[in-house]
Amino acid sequence: MKILMVCLGNICRSPVAEGIMLDLIKKHQLKLEVDSAGTAGYHVNEPPDPRTIRNARKYGVDLSNLRARKFVPSDFDQFDQIYVMDESNLREVQRMAKNQQHRQKVKLLLEVIGRKEPVPDPYYGSEEDFDLVFKLVSEACEKIAQSYLSH
Ligand code: 4NP
Repeated sequence: MKILMVCLGNICRSPVAEGIMLDLIKKHQLKLEVDSAGTAGYHVNEPPDPRTIRNARKYGVDLSNLRARKFVPSDFDQFDQIYVMDESNLREVQRMAKNQQHRQKVKLLLEVIGRKEPVPDPYYGSEEDFDLVFKLVSEACEKIAQSYLSH
């Protein structure tokens, strides 16, 4: 099973989702692979935003080895589930879907915890906004990990 986490720049939200999932996969020895990508290419090959790295470190998650990449249409064939952070990411990714099977792979991340709302973009925000991203994303990732524990 392969999961892709997607946001706009792949430097603030989706790296947090990837890093938390990587730790959960290791902790529970899940047969799961995870990656992340952005719908925009502004930050390709860059590590996560320094504020993102610092915030995640506060919660014991190391993101410093991650590097940004852009979402590509072939990701639809490589991944089983594609979790997007907000409606804009959802539209961008769905626009590249070639068929219904592709479209069905895409979901708002917070839907897994029963919330039809976005993970708010913290790029122009404060430390509290990065804290909120970490909290929301970790709740969703815990839920995803739980659902694979029994597999
Ligand atoms: P992300 O946040 O989509 O969570 O990685 C952003 C990163 C970069 C930009 C916007 C949002 N940007 O405009 O460069």
